[in-house]
Amino acid sequence: MTENLIEKGKRLAAERAVEENVKKNMVIGIGSGSTIVYAVQHIARMNQKRSLNLKCIPSSFQSYQLIIENDLDLASLEQFPEIDLDIDGADEIDKNLNLIKGGGGCLVQEKILASNSKELVIIADYRKKSEILGTNWKNGVPIEVIPMAYFPIMKKLMKLDGKPVLRMAKSKSGPLITDNGNFIIDTDFGEIKNPAELDQKILKIPGVVDTGLFINITSKAYIGTEKGEVIVLEKK
Ligand code: A5P
Repeated sequence: MTENLIEKGKRLAAERAVEENVKKNMVIGIGSGSTIVYAVQHIARMNQKRSLNLKCIPSSFQSYQLIIENDLDLASLEQFPEIDLDIDGADEIDKNLNLIKGGGGCLVQEKILASNSKELVIIADYRKKSEILGTNWKNGVPIEVIPMAYFPIMKKLMKLDGKPVLRMAKSKSGPLITDNGNFIIDTDFGEIKNPAELDQKILKIPGVVDTGLFINITSKAYIGTEKGEVIVLEKK
């Protein structure tokens, strides 16, 4: 079967990011989602050719399994609290390399890894790039919350002009439960002109664990275009 443009974009971006950033003896944070799969597979291929002695820290149950399935060395933040390189996907990337993440429900552990890494390198296909967050990604900002607080949090998010929706599980009745045992509220704020300010406002609500807004933390973004090229955006 021929690979479609989106999958090709993801794969090319992932492979180039891995080739340019993964070095011997690194501690690497492994993000979650569909694009990171291509990155881990490429890391595994490089590792088979010449042993890289990498330590890989997962950001979710998905990436934990991905590391094991690809015969890479699983590690933890207790062993390596300082990560050399964190590679991850994103749902939307703005002109300042601020992100919306958490479409796959793994934002909290992803942000923990990113914030303990010397570099966060994002890999994505062309659909993810926009000028302003909230333009292309229409599912809202994922916000992970403590379950008993979800209802008052939704009311407070409405006061911030958001349209909150409790994310429901698939193939099970009731809400989606994250890897941390919490709920996710996807909240549409329209176009987000000041993501840093919005992030701070949401984080002040008791019961909010974290938001899918990743502000001023990305070093580089590799974007696979429709033409089969990869563009690299760097933090200014
Ligand atoms: C996981 O919760 C997310 O933050 C993902 O990193 C993000 O949704 C990107 O996923 P894809 O690579 O599947 O687009």
